[in-house]
Amino acid sequence: MNIVFHEKTGIFHLFNDCISYMMVILPNRQMGQLYFGRRIRDREDFSHLLELQPRVMSSCVFEGDKSFSLEHVKQEYGVYGTTDYRQPAVEILQENGSRLSDFRYEGYVITPGKPKLQGLPATYAESEEEARTLTIRLRDPLTGVLLSLSYTLFAQDGVLARSARLYNDGDAAVHLTTAMSLCMDLPDFDYELLQLSGAWSRERHIRTRRLEYGVQSVGSLRGHSSHEHNPFLALMRPGADETQGEVIGFSLIYSGNFLAQAEVDNHDTLRVLLGIHPQGFDWKLAPGESFQTPEAVMVYSDRGLNAMSHSFHRLYQRRLARGYWRDRPRPVLINNWEATYFDFTSRKLLELAKKARDCGVELFVLDDGWFGQRSNDRAGLGDWIPNPLRLPEGIAGLAEQIEALGMKFGLWFEPEMVNLDSELYRRHPDWMIRTPGRAVSHGRYQYVLDFSRAEVVDCIYQMMAKLLREAKISYIKWDMNRSISECYSAALPPDRQGEVFHRYILGVYDLYERLTTQFPHVLFESCASGGARFDPGILYYAPQGWASDDSDAVERLKIQYGTSLCYPISSIGSHVSASPNHQLFRSTPLYTRANVACFGTFGYELDLNRLTEEEQDEIREQIRFMKQYRELLQFGTFYRLKSPFEGNVTVWMSVSGDRREAIVGWYRVLNGVNLPYSRVRLAGLDPDFCYEIMIMDGSEREGEACRSCYGDELMNLGLITSDASSGEIAPGQRHSCDFDSRLFVLKAR
Ligand code: DGJ
Repeated sequence: MNIVFHEKTGIFHLFNDCISYMMVILPNRQMGQLYFGRRIRDREDFSHLLELQPRVMSSCVFEGDKSFSLEHVKQEYGVYGTTDYRQPAVEILQENGSRLSDFRYEGYVITPGKPKLQGLPATYAESEEEARTLTIRLRDPLTGVLLSLSYTLFAQDGVLARSARLYNDGDAAVHLTTAMSLCMDLPDFDYELLQLSGAWSRERHIRTRRLEYGVQSVGSLRGHSSHEHNPFLALMRPGADETQGEVIGFSLIYSGNFLAQAEVDNHDTLRVLLGIHPQGFDWKLAPGESFQTPEAVMVYSDRGLNAMSHSFHRLYQRRLARGYWRDRPRPVLINNWEATYFDFTSRKLLELAKKARDCGVELFVLDDGWFGQRSNDRAGLGDWIPNPLRLPEGIAGLAEQIEALGMKFGLWFEPEMVNLDSELYRRHPDWMIRTPGRAVSHGRYQYVLDFSRAEVVDCIYQMMAKLLREAKISYIKWDMNRSISECYSAALPPDRQGEVFHRYILGVYDLYERLTTQFPHVLFESCASGGARFDPGILYYAPQGWASDDSDAVERLKIQYGTSLCYPISSIGSHVSASPNHQLFRSTPLYTRANVACFGTFGYELDLNRLTEEEQDEIREQIRFMKQYRELLQFGTFYRLKSPFEGNVTVWMSVSGDRREAIVGWYRVLNGVNLPYSRVRLAGLDPDFCYEIMIMDGSEREGEACRSCYGDELMNLGLITSDASSGEIAPGQRHSCDFDSRLFVLKAR
């Protein structure tokens, strides 16, 4: 890994074994982009990469010189208003009404490791050898605004982390109306754009489209990263797929309004922008103040999407997520939400807990409804005090009883919200986000607290910390069940209202930071009406997140498959729920529900007391299996082999670090008759290891080794997955069915 500055040519070259990234100081002293991709040998001069052929009809920067127009030069952090007509990376509104700036190169520093980003989640390095950071300093001479562009190159993988910082070194206040985290100009647009989009209960579905002239983008204006779009994009070369071809992944470590955009200009160059959405954003930068953008991460892979995901998984699992739980297999939990909803008493909870304990569950999670006057969704949010009518023993007492059963206790909060019917609202009606003189909209009868205000965050912190000190709470589910509307803070002056969305997220991060620092052993699971805030920003604080309110196993195939593009399996909250399922009313076999959920954090969300003895035995077996293999399932190298977006069959697998063990998950949505023989090529195995294969078929989880094969055979010829659906049923074979699945456990001899 190296970062080199070639004085003579003004070229910066960052490279490791996988990638090269190059920039140049342009003749006008701005920064230009030269190259990002597979590593190339370093040398002094790459200036021929600047294509300066004069064009008819171009506006040019230098008097009398037709060869230098920003319109045709790839920029490092583009500005609109001179001769670059693309959407800008930065825009600064000045006192005289101008929005033009001209950031000129001043100098650079290279630091070993990676400096922290103030107040924001970011990737980190644990030693100086793991990463190196280049910071380039530029200045706009007229306003005195300083721009620092940071680039962290990690020693491992094709990963580059970027952010920008603006500092007002001038005499007058300015307004940042755009400040992106990343601007990446690429020389052509021969790519397919992949995005993770959906809606409530169908989050992060994979969608692709060919890039075209003009702007194509995804984003969120909802105050959270949203169900609708994830702050992630990938560019895929034609023919690239899961296992081959060039791919560049872009991910934003942020949980609020974002924009992820690809703009193709009419000379075929492509600009990718990633950062806080400029819509409504207006950050006042008084003299002496600075603004730090969130961090964006770019990953280059020349071995397809799986390899891109591996780089994201390694980075986000080990150098974004933090704390006690980062590397630890996650406890098998039961959550009472779909078992009871609001209809519970402590007796009912304890009955559920006892049954769960008997099945081997390790953590009991009490969801919504335990506090204030909360017996339905119209009251109580904001009053984080146990309701003595529902829980006479309080949370401390209930937690004690759960611990006495031999389980840990977890609790649900929705810290950012308030109901009109709450003590908190009656005491502080002005703490709600609302625009003066305008109607205020509710979402599920709830309103958003103004987390841009330190005193609001502090008050919620005090309530939560009190409970965490008093009761044995080992886990928190942090929910957020509505988007923000009528965004306005009573505590900020008119010229700072454009800061509220971002300040709100900073408040959320602040509360997370305080709680995770004060209570380092508590496992945090993020949630937002399912997966509306499943993003890298939150992963920094909460190492796992509830991926979706849709707990149907078949729907989950798509959700978990899409989520795995960017996020590690250890972060994907996944539960076995009731059948018929509560969202889709679909009935699926219990084993399929577990076979899907085990590629995630794994837990149960159903009333175990309603299950038959046989089903309870099956669950006991599932949990025993999960405990045996969770390290491999949650922290192994995950490969997507067959996509639920492309057919009736989904296959994925996890391989252990030493490649001696692997588990393949095979899922078929609809059954068929007399189906073709089927096999699937595996990945990531050691070609020379001979693997014993155990098939966990249906509810059969004991599995005996049925055959053994070498890794090369499994990866080149494939694993045979034919079953009863491809012919007559053999003796001892079970019938196949709709929503069928199987696990194959591979162990090297
Ligand atoms: C939405 C979450 O996604 C659910 O899991 C549950 O916690 C409910 N909120 C509770 O209100």
